[in-house]
Amino acid sequence: EHIKLSVDKTLSFVSREEIFKFKEESKKHLTALHEGTGKGNDYTGWVELPSQITAEELKDIQETANNLKERVEVLVVIGIGGSYLGAKAVNDALANNFDMLQADNENPLVLYAGQNISEDYLYELMEILENIEFGICVISKSGTTTEPALAFRLLKELLEEGVGKEEAKERIVAITDESKGALRTLADQEGYKTFIIPDNVGGRYSVLTPVGLLPIAVAGHDITKLVEGAKSMQKYTSETNFEENPALLYAATRNALYAKGKEIEILANYNPKLHNIAEWWKQLYGESEGKELKGIFPASVDLTSDLHSMGQYIQEGQRNIFETVISVAKTKYKVVIPEDKDNLDKLNFLAGKRVDEVNKMAELGTQLAHVDGGVPNLRIELPELNEFYIGELLYFFEIACGVSGYILDVNPFDQPGVEAYKSNMFALLEKPGFEEETKKIKERL
Ligand code: PA5
Repeated sequence: EHIKLSVDKTLSFVSREEIFKFKEESKKHLTALHEGTGKGNDYTGWVELPSQITAEELKDIQETANNLKERVEVLVVIGIGGSYLGAKAVNDALANNFDMLQADNENPLVLYAGQNISEDYLYELMEILENIEFGICVISKSGTTTEPALAFRLLKELLEEGVGKEEAKERIVAITDESKGALRTLADQEGYKTFIIPDNVGGRYSVLTPVGLLPIAVAGHDITKLVEGAKSMQKYTSETNFEENPALLYAATRNALYAKGKEIEILANYNPKLHNIAEWWKQLYGESEGKELKGIFPASVDLTSDLHSMGQYIQEGQRNIFETVISVAKTKYKVVIPEDKDNLDKLNFLAGKRVDEVNKMAELGTQLAHVDGGVPNLRIELPELNEFYIGELLYFFEIACGVSGYILDVNPFDQPGVEAYKSNMFALLEKPGFEEETKKIKERL
C-alpha cells in the first residue's frame, strides 16, 4: 500500500486533457531528474538518496543519537530553513501532541533555535537550559548563516560553562559541509562528532540526510522505516506510468490549475500533527518555484481550526486558489462520543460514533463546499501516520517539486532571492567588507 493522490475534484475546473497535456513533458522531466541532466543538475543528489543510504550510515546516525540520549534530556537543534524544517516536520508528525508535558526518560525532547533572531526566544531558551542536561545539534550547510551561528555562539558558551569543555564536546554534533565553511573549521578544531551534508543536496531537499535523520532518531522515531518509505516512493514514482504516478499527476495538475489563474495552493490538514509538514512543504515549493516572477504561492491551513478563521476566504474570497488536502485514513487511538442524558448540546445523534468519523465528515463536507465555491481540490491520503508513510510523503513532494519546477521552466534547486535581505542586514549592521553598501543604505533611510 502507498500514499494515494486523487485529482478528481479538480476536473470541473481543468479537463483531463489539460492535465494530460503535461504527460510526456513530466515524464521527460522525471528522467532528467534521475539522470541529472536538467537545470540545477549539480543539486539533484537527493533524487537517488533513499536507495543509496547504507545500513552503516544509518547505524552511525543511530549510535550518535543513542550517545546523546544517554547524556541529555533536551537536544537543541540549531538551524534555519532547510536545515531544520524537515526534522521539525517529521518529529511533530510522529510525536505525541503533548510531548512537552510528558516525562519520557528514553527520548530527549527536541527543541529548536537559530531559526529566528528573537532576543526573548534565546533568553527564555537559555533560562530553561540552565537547569537541564542539554546537548546541541548544530546544522548549517554553508556553515556561515547568521541566525544559527549566533544561536550556536550563545548555547555553546552556556553548555561549556555548565558541564565543561570536555563533556560539551560529547554533547555537540555538527552537520555541515565536508570541507568548507566556518562550522566545519570550528567542528574540526574542537573535535566534535560531525556528519556531512552532501554537496549535491540543497537545504530544502536534505531531510533524508543526517540533517533530518539525526534529530529524528534522537526524538525516538525509526529512521530506517522513514528511509524505507522514501525508498518505496522513489521506486514507485520511477516505475509507474503517468496515470497512476502520484508525483507526475500532482506536478501536472497543479501546473494545469496555475495556467487557469489558480496562483495560490493551500495545503490543508485535519490533524494538527501535520502542521509542520506544511511548513516544510512551503519552503520546498516556495523556494523551488518562486522565481523569475513565476510560481504558485504555497500557503497552508490547519482544519477544522482554520475553517473558523480562513474558511470564509477560502469559500468566498478571490477565486485564485486551489487546495490540496492531506488526509490520514486511520487514527492511532479510539475515542467514542458518549451519550448524554440531558442532550443540551443536541449531540446525542453522534453518540456511539468515533471522533474521527466526525472529522472525516467535516473533511468531506468541506471538500464539497470548497469545490462548489470554486476551489479545486486535490487529496493525498496516508493510510496512517507512521515513519513509513511520512517517508513516502516526503519523497513524493520532493520529486513532484522537481518535476513541477521543470514544467515551470525554472531551476528548482537554487534560491538567489534569499540573499537580498542578508546583504541589507549586513550593510545596516556595518559588517566589515560592506562599507560601500552601508553608505548607500544609510542614504536611503
Ligand atoms: O533551502 C535552502 O537552501 C535554505 O533555506 C537553507 O536551508 C537555509 O538558508 C540554511 O542554510 P545553511 O544550512 O547553509 O545554514
